[in-house]
Amino acid sequence: MSLYIGDIKMVNLISPELNDLMNKQIVEELRSAYIYLGMAAWAEEQGLKGLAAFMKIHAESEEYIHAQKFVNYIIETGGKVEYGTIEKVTTNYQNVETVLKEAIKHEEHITSKIKALMDLATDRKEYYALDLLNWFIQEQIEEENLFTDLYTSFELSGKNLGVWDHYVKHPD
Ligand SMILES: [Fe+2]
Ligand SMILES: [Fe+2]
Repeated sequence: MSLYIGDIKMVNLISPELNDLMNKQIVEELRSAYIYLGMAAWAEEQGLKGLAAFMKIHAESEEYIHAQKFVNYIIETGGKVEYGTIEKVTTNYQNVETVLKEAIKHEEHITSKIKALMDLATDRKEYYALDLLNWFIQEQIEEENLFTDLYTSFELSGKNLGVWDHYVKHPD
């Protein structure tokens, strides 16, 4: 929908379809933060302070910011921000291995969502969105590596929880 003030057409550089998918992605990013906060709560309960801090920092300094990037883009291009429902997340995990594997799986899921946004923007020739979406494509390399490296470091420590947790640090 284009907005007018008098005869002046306001900026509208986003299609309803891309707007809708970006609104859904905002929920995905906020849910990512929520998932990592769930993992942080679990880690805290286990006394794993390093892992808890890592997950909290990740939620706040990465996922929350990702959501804001989509919010800003929608507003800048004259779209409409809508905040959907964020589905419940678990705070119950069996062990650290499960947490780390779930985090890797979740980032793969997010990568597939970013690719779908890229597909839509490209198909519709919404080239304005490509800078933002390319940023996210590159960001997902970092995100997937971050959690894969975390898992590797856990394995390399011989799954020594105490030692590993002491050295876990988010790169922010
Ligand atoms: Fe994200
Ligand atoms: Fe992420």
